[in-house]
Amino acid sequence: MTDAELVAEARTAAQHAYAPFSRFRVGAVAVAADGTRYTGANVENSAYGSGICAEGSAITRAVSAGVRSIDTIAVACIDATEAGYPCGNCRQLMVEFDVKRVVVDAPDGYRVHTLAELIPFGFKLR
Ligand code: THU
Repeated sequence: MTDAELVAEARTAAQHAYAPFSRFRVGAVAVAADGTRYTGANVENSAYGSGICAEGSAITRAVSAGVRSIDTIAVACIDATEAGYPCGNCRQLMVEFDVKRVVVDAPDGYRVHTLAELIPFGFKLR
C-alpha cells in the first residue's frame, strides 16, 4: 500500500473517533513488519486524562494481535487546518515497537519522517 493510501485509510479510521470533548478527530494506521494493517482512532473519556490517542489505539490493536515490530504509522487529524503531528507520548509508544517511518497527513499532501527525527534518543530498556 502506498503512503497516500495509508493516509486515506487513517482519514477513514478517524471517522470512528470518539471525541465529544475536543471535537478533534484523529485516525491512525499501524503497519506491521509483515504488512498487516491495524487502524485506530482517538477515544476520549469524561475523565479527560483517561482518553486514548489514535496512534495508541492502533498500536494497541497491533500488539494485542501479537505484533512486536511496526514498520510504519500513518496519522490523520481530519479536523485540523495544519499537519497533525503525534504527541510526545505517542512518539514514545512508537519507540517501544521500533516504528521506522511516520506518515503525517497535511493540508498540502502528507509528510514522511523517520521516527528518529520525531524522537531522537527515545527511551527503551534493552
Ligand atoms: N490526539 C491523538 O489522537 N493523537 C495525537 O498524537 C495527539 C492528540 C487526540 C487526543 C484527544 O482526543 C484529541 O486528539 C485532542 O487532543
